[in-house]
Amino acid sequence: MLNSPFQLGPVTIPNRVLLSPLAGVSDVPFRRVCQELGAGLGYIEMLSAAGLPYGGRKLDELVARHPEEPLLGVQVTGATPEILKTGIEALHTHPVKMDTLDLNMGCPVKKVVKRGCGSAIVKDPVNAGNLVRAAREATDLPVTTKIRIGYNKLNLTVKEVCSELAKAGTTMLIIHGRVREDSYSDPVQYDQIKAGFDAARHAAGDSNIWMIGNGNIFDLASARRMVAETGCDGVLISRGCLGNPWIFKQVLEDSEVHPNLDEWLDVVMRHIDYHEEFYTEGRYAAIRFRKHLLWYVSGFPGSRALRGEIGNLDRMSQVRDALKAYAATLPSDFPRYGDQNEYKRTHDYDPKFEMDRSHDRGVEYYEDAE
Ligand SMILES: Cc1cc2nc3c(=O)[nH]c(=O)nc-3n(C[C@H](O)[C@H](O)[C@H](O)COP(=O)(O)O)c2cc1C
Repeated sequence: MLNSPFQLGPVTIPNRVLLSPLAGVSDVPFRRVCQELGAGLGYIEMLSAAGLPYGGRKLDELVARHPEEPLLGVQVTGATPEILKTGIEALHTHPVKMDTLDLNMGCPVKKVVKRGCGSAIVKDPVNAGNLVRAAREATDLPVTTKIRIGYNKLNLTVKEVCSELAKAGTTMLIIHGRVREDSYSDPVQYDQIKAGFDAARHAAGDSNIWMIGNGNIFDLASARRMVAETGCDGVLISRGCLGNPWIFKQVLEDSEVHPNLDEWLDVVMRHIDYHEEFYTEGRYAAIRFRKHLLWYVSGFPGSRALRGEIGNLDRMSQVRDALKAYAATLPSDFPRYGDQNEYKRTHDYDPKFEMDRSHDRGVEYYEDAE
């Protein structure tokens, strides 16, 4: 089911395993790698509607598309219908072609919620619906929404928000099954995701809304669980693809098959090539790649020494050399990605499972917008 296409307005998405917008991560090179491994759709990271009219170099870097990128989604957040509309209109003066537009109503980052954006939006279901209406007026792209199930545990607004979003005409609803104050160690509330989907279906009447589940999808088993427990049409992969873009292939092919050493190295090297092509060789490119390298080798045998070295890699050529030298130490039959939660239990610290985004400084375009 997850490998069947679906339609967002005029746009055909080839499958239902989507790559999340990821601040500081879902750039052109990473999206290319994930789409080559099967991701049905890739997104630019969240942009601030309030900042969009000001443009700038950072925005040009973020709003970019490679000619071989099959589909591209953009994600915007704005506190009021007016700000959102102005922002989207400004975005459309940008030459890059986009295929779909998502409204972020889930970002927990302090400087974002402080301005009434991201997850602060789910506090007010009526405003959430009005934001969808404003976006639909400002763009011809299909408008979708990504929400959390509430702002805090005492006030789960998911049903009211989903109902308003459906009435306002969202074409796809992505629900991350946590509240804003949750950390990543808090469990995903599948029953609340399902309750949101049910409320949206009920409010939508005869029109179809695609329902996408999000949260803790790290492997085939957790993707299956999301589908089984929420009845979603598709899944959005977030931390699960950090250092593991093969997850798209595994979920799509419904198979536990993992890359062997050569295949693993081939993909990481390709990511490095794409990264260098986009950012060019230099310190900026190398620094941006460090986290990917950390994720690629996290939980791998003997990676501690390499992890210690990563902070000193200042050129892409050094990144390549360090990776090659490390790969040469791995046994060729080493299984790349098994149960990642198992890695978390049995190996040393894996940063991708513990990111605390409420203090995140990686929402790059928000910085510029202020
Ligand atoms: C580094 C990072 C950056 C993120 N950036 C965005 C973003 O720009 N837009 C968004 O909607 N969600 C963003 N998220 C949240 C994820 O899309 C997702 O909702 C959340 O991580 C829960 O899924 P997971 O448990 O599978 O990681 C980000 C998450 C991480 C870890």
